[in-house]
Amino acid sequence: MRVLLVCLGNICRSPTAEGILRHKLEQAGLATRVEVDSCGTGGWHIGKAPDRRAMAAAARRGFDLSGLRARQLEVDDFYRFDYLLAMDRDNLLVLEAWCPPDCRAHIGLFLDFAGYENKEVPDPYFGGKQGFEKVLDLVEAGAEGLIDELRRRLEATS
Ligand code: 4NP
Repeated sequence: MRVLLVCLGNICRSPTAEGILRHKLEQAGLATRVEVDSCGTGGWHIGKAPDRRAMAAAARRGFDLSGLRARQLEVDDFYRFDYLLAMDRDNLLVLEAWCPPDCRAHIGLFLDFAGYENKEVPDPYFGGKQGFEKVLDLVEAGAEGLIDELRRRLEATS
């Protein structure tokens, strides 16, 4: 199973989600069954490490994002991944606009699986420290909900 997490710049939200989802998949014993990647719909930060504030906030909770590098969404992603999950509705609209007609992947919001009413992870880039803590809270819950969904899918197909 392959999961692609998508935000705007690929330096704050989606790398945070990638690091946390990988970590939690390892704890759940599913790391060999699920491949995780992230990207941005925008291309301003290609090749860059995650935002320092995102890395520091994640590190305080025990998640290491330092090895990740930003990349931009490409058409091939719609064929390579089973799930393409956006952090907010603007980026979901971009996914829907780019999605080739013969794409079989599930396209939706990352927080669709978290059981929250609010289904968006707000962009923390232009805000303060608290925005990054909020991203972590939402992403931790989203990752757990998504792992439950993936476990169900894997059990149904094995
Ligand atoms: P992200 O945050 O989409 O969570 O990575 C942003 C990063 C950079 C910019 C906007 C959002 N930017 O405008 O450069």
